[in-house]
Amino acid sequence: MTDAAAVIETRGLTKRYRGGHTAVDRLDLRVPAGSVFGFLGPNGSGKTTTIRLLLGLLAPTSGTATVLGAPMPRASRAVLPRVGALIEGPALYGYLSGRDNLVRYDSADPSADPRTRRARVAGALDRVGLGAAAARKAKTYSLGMKQRLGLAAALLQPRSLLVLDEPTNGLDPQGMREIRTLIRELAADGTTVFLSSHLLDEIEQVCTHAAVMNRGALIAQGSVAELAARTRGRLSVTGPDPADAARVLKEHGITDLAVTEDRVTGEVPADAELADINAALVRAGVRVRAFGQERASLEDAFVALTGEGFDVAG
Ligand SMILES: Nc1ncnc2c1ncn2[C@@H]1O[C@H](COP(=O)(O)OP(=O)(O)OP(=O)(O)O)[C@@H](O)[C@H]1O
Ligand SMILES: [Mg+2]
Repeated sequence: MTDAAAVIETRGLTKRYRGGHTAVDRLDLRVPAGSVFGFLGPNGSGKTTTIRLLLGLLAPTSGTATVLGAPMPRASRAVLPRVGALIEGPALYGYLSGRDNLVRYDSADPSADPRTRRARVAGALDRVGLGAAAARKAKTYSLGMKQRLGLAAALLQPRSLLVLDEPTNGLDPQGMREIRTLIRELAADGTTVFLSSHLLDEIEQVCTHAAVMNRGALIAQGSVAELAARTRGRLSVTGPDPADAARVLKEHGITDLAVTEDRVTGEVPADAELADINAALVRAGVRVRAFGQERASLEDAFVALTGEGFDVAG
């Protein structure tokens, strides 16, 4: 966990809203430099609240947050110019074109050179695939186009860190793919990307690291591979004699057996040797077409970590 410097680090970060609801509960988060970090959790688990705390838009009830090595919200003025952010739908002027919305954003940035504004805006629009729609009023944009315009605004300047709250929300599969590609490109250029999502699949496809939130509390964090490895996949044996296979597997300590027409699956104990189990099947004369351990997904890990499914309420 300590190989790369942390771009975001929180200690006991807590936010209790008026009325006593604890939206973020003693969060110890560590986002390594250069990672694409997925912040995963169902609706209401505290993702947006955490992001607002990280960006200094909310003051914590207790605990601390460090972003790019400086304390937030105290160092906001120094830190925020190096952070591109997109939170819950960007603030856009509907009567302005997409291009003019970006010109407005760029003009509001005192460090942005007006002489290169046009090129910067055009570059950002192209990067998110809005070049052709640049002259249209933003109010005629689809949700996905608005989301991309917000992303373009975050990309007007080179950033050390991008913080994206549900960046693919409202996008169709093609749009989601494009945003994922864009995130990979930005990461390849050295930008650390922190993105929230309630979609496991999306996190698995694009992220190197992830943290899992549940009801305001962090239940796991680490590399995506590490998280997935916390649950070994089930052993699966396919062949014409699943009942015989199940008997042999049971004798060798495989538990939670499930037999279907031509396949038996089960949980492998930590000390079991797969090669020995395979040999035992052969010795018993069980005919096997396929033998192997299923890949554990982040979803398996989530279920194992929380004891519940990844249920997105609404
Ligand atoms: N301004 C607020 N005042 C009171 N409670 C709030 C406020 N904002 C959020 N909450 C509550 O805090 C909890 C966490 O909300 P938050 O928006 O951070 O979750 P989230 O993980 O971003 O959810 P989603 O996936 O729906 O965006 C929820 O129970 C929510 O109702
Ligand atoms: Mg949210």
